[in-house]
Amino acid sequence: MSILIKNGNIITASDNYTGDIFIENDQISAIGTNLTFQADQVIDASGLLVFPGAIDPHVHLEMPFMGTYSSDNYETGTRAALHGGTTTVIDFILQSQGKSLNDAYTAWSNRANGNAIGDYSFHMAVTDFNENTCCEIVDLVEKEGITSFKIFLAYKGALMIDDKQMVGLMNEVKARGGMVTVHATNGDMIDFLVAKNRSEGKLAPIYHYLSQPEVTEAEASERFARVAGYTGCPGYIVHMTCEGALNAVRNNNRNNQRVYAETCIQYLLLDASLYQQDFEGAKWVMSPPLREKKDQEALWAGINQGLVQVVATDHCPFTWEQKLIGKDDFSRIPNGHPAIEHRVELLYSEGVRKGRITLNKFVEVLSTNPAKIFGLHPRKGCLAPGSDADIVLFDPNEQHTISAATHHMNTDYSAYEGWQVTGKCKKVFLRGKLVIDNGHCLVEKGNGQYLKRKKVAGIF
Ligand code: URP
Ligand code: ZN
Ligand code: ZN
Repeated sequence: MSILIKNGNIITASDNYTGDIFIENDQISAIGTNLTFQADQVIDASGLLVFPGAIDPHVHLEMPFMGTYSSDNYETGTRAALHGGTTTVIDFILQSQGKSLNDAYTAWSNRANGNAIGDYSFHMAVTDFNENTCCEIVDLVEKEGITSFKIFLAYKGALMIDDKQMVGLMNEVKARGGMVTVHATNGDMIDFLVAKNRSEGKLAPIYHYLSQPEVTEAEASERFARVAGYTGCPGYIVHMTCEGALNAVRNNNRNNQRVYAETCIQYLLLDASLYQQDFEGAKWVMSPPLREKKDQEALWAGINQGLVQVVATDHCPFTWEQKLIGKDDFSRIPNGHPAIEHRVELLYSEGVRKGRITLNKFVEVLSTNPAKIFGLHPRKGCLAPGSDADIVLFDPNEQHTISAATHHMNTDYSAYEGWQVTGKCKKVFLRGKLVIDNGHCLVEKGNGQYLKRKKVAGIF
């Protein structure tokens, strides 16, 4: 099967020109201007942007968490992702403390295999680093292609590890050619503030925000970056929200050290004023919490300064009924919110159209950088001969309104209800197959492939 996409406005991390793409089977075989190949199907992309399928390296699908499960499974979550132009996701396997990494890998593989509609890969979250866990890392890297290992410096008693474990893990991961990623907030400080607020009867969602001030994130980011520098292990901070954490990265870059940073679309667009509404604020209870306008400014600047390389989602949806678990106590509200479907359209509408970032930067932070950082490039993250034909055809002028009534995520509310967005994913190709056509998903569960990833090469 061959397809010729003609006259699109081709956008990559470095280029922007009117051109054509020739797809044969699942790969791009040629890209350029005025291509004359005979194709089984010709698609006129005049007036449309054509860019590589987006990669979301931070999602939680069907994740056991805070006494429940995130409400999108691999089928619903990757379908929603495809609707929004995200063709690959990287989910986090969570080790259960006291159990092996392999047990967790098996559980996550069983959930994903045969169910995913889009392509997927895994990070491994190490929540209990010990002699046994240490021995499992080499096989995960070499055999399963899991080259990134996540640590949590918060959620004590469930996911958090201490600094001794952090150093040990970094030494081992560095030796195996991998990377350590981090949820960088100070769990002990947060637990202190949570306990204090609860003891004073302060139980509304806003106290989730007030229990995780900026310093908790700045301190943990600085500590992580320092230990990464000491061990020489490549490091990546997930879901960065604030100026203080960004400055930790900036400081470490001054020491000629590169710590990669990811922010998420919500931290660029939403702020902590949303917590001021009674229990409604639970929709945005996530960790770290939404911050202030000055933090949004810092993050947009950080993207343009090359300090923040990735815009992800931390998609971790819950239904309203699940959020109600915490109706009398903010500390029991399941942390997380739905976002996987709208990252691309929101970043285009609010970022590119409003002049905050260029089209090239848009592609870089949504697709090319995640592919490079996480060992998927050049198979994913670019438009080039030999790459998977993961391609989005995007109408930059179509206006639409985000709503739970029309989204495809398995949640009954939207974090962006009523937002007017300009720009829509019209056609999405995954490995050369048209998977989304004008709002319709054309493929079934099982269509997604597991992606083994390469070791960390050091890309910047
Ligand atoms: O609130 C969040 N972010 N939920 C998902 C787990 C995590 O910390 O990433
Ligand atoms: Zn986190
Ligand atoms: Zn997360």
